[in-house]
Parts: sequence; C-alpha cells; structure tokens
Amino acid sequence: MRETKPAPRLHRSIWYMGAKSRLIPGFLEKVLADELPVGGTFIDLMCGSGVVSAWCAGLYRVISNDVQSYSAVIARSLIEHSPGTRDDFLATLDPEADLSKSYEANYALLAGPYGAALEEEATCLDAYAKDRADGAWADSYREYLRTAAALYPGVSGENIAEPFRGAAALLEGRGEPASRPACLATTYYSNIYFGLRQSLQIDSLRIAIDELAEGDPWREARRTHYLSALLHAASVSTSGTSHFAQPRHLVKDSELQAMARRRLTDIRESLAEYSAAIAQTVGETVFTEGNQVFNSDYRELLDDEGAFRFPSGPGLVYLDPPYTADNYSRFYHVLEVLTRYDYPELKRDRGGGILRGRYPVLSHRFRSDFCSPTKVEDEFRKVLFGVASCGAKLVISYASPTGLLLKEYVREGYDDPLARLHDLCGEFFASVEILRRPMMHSGQGDSNISIDELLVVCGRPHSRRRAW
Ligand SMILES: C[S@@+](CC[C@H](N)C(=O)[O-])C[C@H]1O[C@@H](n2cnc3c(N)ncnc32)[C@H](O)[C@@H]1O
Repeated sequence: MRETKPAPRLHRSIWYMGAKSRLIPGFLEKVLADELPVGGTFIDLMCGSGVVSAWCAGLYRVISNDVQSYSAVIARSLIEHSPGTRDDFLATLDPEADLSKSYEANYALLAGPYGAALEEEATCLDAYAKDRADGAWADSYREYLRTAAALYPGVSGENIAEPFRGAAALLEGRGEPASRPACLATTYYSNIYFGLRQSLQIDSLRIAIDELAEGDPWREARRTHYLSALLHAASVSTSGTSHFAQPRHLVKDSELQAMARRRLTDIRESLAEYSAAIAQTVGETVFTEGNQVFNSDYRELLDDEGAFRFPSGPGLVYLDPPYTADNYSRFYHVLEVLTRYDYPELKRDRGGGILRGRYPVLSHRFRSDFCSPTKVEDEFRKVLFGVASCGAKLVISYASPTGLLLKEYVREGYDDPLARLHDLCGEFFASVEILRRPMMHSGQGDSNISIDELLVVCGRPHSRRRAW
C-alpha cells in the first residue's frame, strides 16, 4: 500500500529570483507524486531559497545542495531535522533570551560613534512615517543619503563629513571577523541596502548568533536557525527592489519614499517573526531520517567518472539551474557576505572608487557556467550524465523562451529549441517528457513577461556512456 503523509507546508521563503513557490502546487507536486514514491530520496541539486527542499521534506528524504552559503544555511534550518529530536530542538528556541545580551552590547558600541547620524536618520524616517514626506522632506533625506554614499570601509578621514565623523575610526579601516564592535553591515551597506539603524541591528544580531553559548548541544542547530531567520529578515528589508544587484538612485522622490518605507522595518522584530515562521514550517513537517545539506559547486558531488555520489539514493534529482546570464552571486552578494561575515575586499571601478553596488571582488563571487552562453550546454550534459550514471530519475526546471540554453539553440539556427532540448536529454534517458505551465515572470531581469515554466521529466537512464 502507498504510504500516506499529510500535505506538506509551503514555506514563506526569502525573496529569490526563480524561487519555485508558485510552481509546487499542482505542477511540480503532480510530477513528483508520479515519479517518486513517498519515503524515496529527493535531491535538490541547486536549492536556492530552500522552498522546494522544505516542501519535499514532508514527503521524502531530502539531500540539498547549493554553491551559495546563504542557501545552504537556509536549507539546513528547514530540513536537517530528525523526526525523533525535532520537537526538543524547537522547544529550545527563544530569540529574545538567546540573542539580547550580545545584541545590546554590540549595538551600544556602534550607537556611540554613529549617534549623530542615527538621530538624523530617525528624524527623516519619523517624518515619513507621520505622513510628512513632502518636497522639503525629500531634500533633507536626499542630502543625508548623498553624504552617506561617500562612505565605505577604508575611506580616508578627511572625506568623512558630519554627521558621520564620530564613526571615522570604524570607517577608516576594514574590520575583521574578530573585531568589536562587529560593524560589517554598518560600514559596508548602511544607507545603501539598509537603513543605518537596520545595519546596526543586523551586525548586532549577527554577532549575537555567533556568540551563542558554547557547550550547548543544540548550539549549531540554533545558530543555523537564527542565521537563517536573519537572512530571511535581511532579504525582505533590502532598500533595493527585491534583491541586492543595484541600490536605488536618489533622484526621484518616489524612490526615496520607497527606501524610507523599507527602512522602517525593525530587523530585530523581523528576525523574531521569521524564527517563528521557520519553526512553524519545521514543526509541521513530518521528516524522514537522513536529510543532509551540502554547500558546493554541484561538480564536487561527481566522482572521477562523472557520476553523482549521494549519501542515499538513487531516487530523483531535481535540477533548477540559473536560466539567464545573471549570476546569483551578484544579485545576492549581501546575503553571502552576511553569512560568511568576513569583511571582503570590495570591487573598484577604473578610477579606484568603490562601486555603488558594493560588490565583493570577483574572486569572492561564484560564477556559474549555467550563466555562460558558451558553456551552458556542457553544464546540462554534465548533470544529465551524472544523474543517468547513478541510475536516478531527473526533473529539470527551466523557462521558455527565456532560458539561456534555449536562446543559444535559437541563435545556432534551431527552429524548435525545445525539440533540441528534448533530444539532448534523450542522449542520456530513454523517456523524456516536457511539461509546460504558462506564467508571468518578474525575476531574473525579465520584467512581467509571459513565459512557459518547463518541467523536463527524464526517466529510464541509459547505461553509463560519456557523450561529450
Ligand atoms: C533558479 S535558482 C534555484 C531556485 C530554487 N529551486 C528555489 O525554489 O528557490 C538557481 C540556483 O542555482 C545555484 N547554482 C548555480 N550554479 C551552481 C553550481 N554550479 N552548483 C551549485 N549551485 C549552483 C544558484 O546559487 C541558485 O541558488
């Protein structure tokens, strides 16, 4: 008899391009029900926001992976739980009691040097909150932000204007993980991607998470949980539109108002809310033993022959790669840096100035070959071969006509790029079916265009045979 489990919960995820929250109900859900028996092993090769992994954890054993560390932290917080100990772990969570002491200490150390600037920001945000955002308000907030835009780690003291002069000692150098007060978000991102008060909150929460009591058997799990909650809070508080690829410009009053609106969010309260939301998702999930999360380039999960080696399986591998030339490490660099908290060197323009976007230097950012027009087909082949060789089924999410590989096929002169994709998969699997669901898209650089979300369902793998 087929094992039954209650319908899994759909987690409220971070804001993430290509997150599959809308694709699960009635689409991915149906394909998985047909292809993988309950209790089987589901491998989420590029798990991103973790929403698919979290949902699948209610039905299957889940092995997740992503090259970005923030993704791995989020996935761990959602799926690395054991059915026998989950409730004991959840009972230990208390953000206020766990984080307050270190938080207050760090916040006080930052609030001294930044006191004058915090006051100026509070005056601007308070006026906005009280509906006094007229032209004069915009002029003064713009002026405050223009002054702040010239600040970054390593700026020379003479360029630091009031009201930021008090913070010169923090701004003139580049901090390091052990330095106190923790000031990475404050010196790198304040008044750019977050408000100033929000940045002080982020640093103080981040350091409080690292300072959770040693010797507690749940320390690592709680650290992961709170860091995930902080990443959720930071993701939805960006002063950018919904990511961190470009800060907003200061020209239009409407942009200033949008920024002010976001900057009223209290990050500490938001962390507490997301902590509760993650705990709810975990608490309502009927886990299978053996879930595990990796944080690597998928190629590191292949053996010398190019076959995937997973801790359990074979079952079904789900591949949801980037589908445009935009790298996730550019859109979500802030989440990656907050996770690593390593005060990276920032990229400079030709004149030596720090870029507005505050991106880490390229050596700190992973660039996926799925985002490279010349390499994307080879990446698909590697995954197809690796999955077929370990005897698993494969389901691929992709978008038509916007998927980079499909665009490449059109450029190469194929009339029917989907037929070409079908043939490619057919080199490795005897059964290939492409399912479509029409959708409106607003992510990955495409603004509100109608596309087809695809699920390419591949079964009956051919025997091992390298085809490239
Ligand atoms: C479309 S998103 C996945 C979205 C995810 N399914 C969700 O619902 O949130 C693509 C993901 O692929 C990851 N990625 C890109 N290249 C990778 C590689 N070579 N190895 C592992 N992960 C990779 C990116 O970091 C990104 O999180």
